[in-house]
Amino acid sequence: MSTQIIRPARTLQGSLTVPGDKSISHRYAMLAGFAEGTSRLANFSTGADPHSSLGCMEALGATVRKGPGAAVEVTGVAGDFRQPARPLDCGNSGSTMRMLSGLIAPHARTFTLIGDHSLTMRPMERIRKPLAQMGARIELVDGHAPMTIHGGPLEAIDFTTPIPSAQVKTAVLFAGLQAMGTTSLTEAVRTRDHSEHALKAFGATLTRTAGANPGDPSKLSIAGGQKLKAIDATVPGDISSAAFFLCAALLYPDANLVLDSLGMNPTRAALLDVITALGGRIKVLTVDEHHGEMIGTIQVNRAEGTLPTEPYVISGALTAQVIDELPVLAAVAPYTSGGIIIRDAQELRVKESDRIALVAKNLRAMGAELKENPDGLEIPGKQSLHGASIDSGTDHRIAMAFSIAALRAAGDTQIDGAEAASISFPEFFTSLDSLAQR
Ligand code: S3P
Repeated sequence: MSTQIIRPARTLQGSLTVPGDKSISHRYAMLAGFAEGTSRLANFSTGADPHSSLGCMEALGATVRKGPGAAVEVTGVAGDFRQPARPLDCGNSGSTMRMLSGLIAPHARTFTLIGDHSLTMRPMERIRKPLAQMGARIELVDGHAPMTIHGGPLEAIDFTTPIPSAQVKTAVLFAGLQAMGTTSLTEAVRTRDHSEHALKAFGATLTRTAGANPGDPSKLSIAGGQKLKAIDATVPGDISSAAFFLCAALLYPDANLVLDSLGMNPTRAALLDVITALGGRIKVLTVDEHHGEMIGTIQVNRAEGTLPTEPYVISGALTAQVIDELPVLAAVAPYTSGGIIIRDAQELRVKESDRIALVAKNLRAMGAELKENPDGLEIPGKQSLHGASIDSGTDHRIAMAFSIAALRAAGDTQIDGAEAASISFPEFFTSLDSLAQR
């Protein structure tokens, strides 16, 4: 296990390009592996997770060539996955295990999906249920991986997602793409829509129909039996990786950051509103669109004028929209003027770690006061923290979130299990060093 010492910083200044988006990289890797032809994917995520997806696609018969830099070329199987010789190793990646299940379940083969200790603890029944409804036979061990899929021709279903989960939605859409009939899916809370954009980019047709009454959720429909064609694409920068620096910018009156080639898909960008509400100022310098995804350059600093005095409440749909950014928001909450209350975030307890418990434990180690609830945290503002030993719990977002909290602490902070950052953002500590002025 590796350790990083984080020294406090005077301010944060400079410009940064974050690596390619993890969510989009997974989807492009899987759909490129399924499609016919060779896809050229520029700025593919450097994180270990999307590389687990690439490894699985290779085991399923796709050809993957990496480099130069973050470019990846994938030659797909034209809709015909081969029987893998070994279990499909998803590593630490819930996205790989859940989304891939939907893509492979329509194939008349037997697949075993395995993962590391953390992934083996995560709930998989949410995937088994819809795929079993479509006709796949899936075995789990007490609701968890290892997962064995006895695949075969599937029937379309009309599915309503019981929890807000883009991974579950994606598994159903990927299976629906190959099922008999038209699959439809309704989600009460709209989650990230990268799969919808990626499917269209690879040539699939899917439609979104508005609900009967204003405010009713819309319905997605995808006809089965569709073929996909390779694409050339550039993956936008990962806003969930940028989040660490966006939150760090809140900590200094004279912070100034420019982030370019950043993914700004509206279903991912709610964080920008949160940053603004907490006293940040975000200027959008450029915006472009590529395969349905928004890419832009933004400048971030602290707004002048009075800061909020009431706690900022993150609840309901907003919680789902910033689910991956909650650890870093919580880690900087004690330094905010009004504090932050997080509700409806019980899903955080079944991520790569129990993120509510680990955030509470590590904030307390740094001397913060807070209240832990079953579905969230109440963290008062205007607190001073001190350096401490941080337990990352081998969770990438915890390791990085507390490296940001450490910037304004008194004394040095030791991040144990810092290597976890490489799951999504291997360059994190180098980027932090280049931006932090000491
Ligand atoms: C993801 C969806 C979210 C998120 C995860 C990536 C995706 O998970 O937390 O990091 O790429 O679709 P859930 O689908 O479990 O909410």
